[in-house]
Amino acid sequence: MNRRHFVLTGIASGLAVATLSRPALASFGQMEVFKSPTCGCCAAWVDHMTRAGFEAVARDVDQETLWTMKDRAGVTPELSSCHTAFIDGYFIEGHVPASDVQRLLSERPDALGLTVPGMPIGSPGMEMGNQRDAYDTLLVLRDGSTEVFESHA
Ligand code: CU
Ligand code: CU
Repeated sequence: MNRRHFVLTGIASGLAVATLSRPALASFGQMEVFKSPTCGCCAAWVDHMTRAGFEAVARDVDQETLWTMKDRAGVTPELSSCHTAFIDGYFIEGHVPASDVQRLLSERPDALGLTVPGMPIGSPGMEMGNQRDAYDTLLVLRDGSTEVFESHA
């Protein structure tokens, strides 16, 4: 390998690393977030996603409609939280950190979506001072089973 080739390869792999560590958010589709109009923590989560670079659009629906949407998407009551979002064919249920959504969209596993069931204290949009619950972001597979996608201590 001559020196010139080496330098060019170095630049190319440098670019690849930069691309991996900071995903091109513009290539992600718009995120639609369905929530009840009175939910404050939902709005806080939408802010979290927007700050992370997502184009998140909030849509207010009544609770009945929201449960129907969850059911159709494959979000069972045990897996459910407050809001239900959709992006690039995946559902994002509840207070899932933006970093997990970014990883999901770069790895693109064959799955239905991600969920953080319930509303753990300290998850994005559920901040309460220094209080923190440990929680897992779950990957929901097509057969309805789940696996831990990321643990948050
Ligand atoms: Cu919430
Ligand atoms: Cu919510």
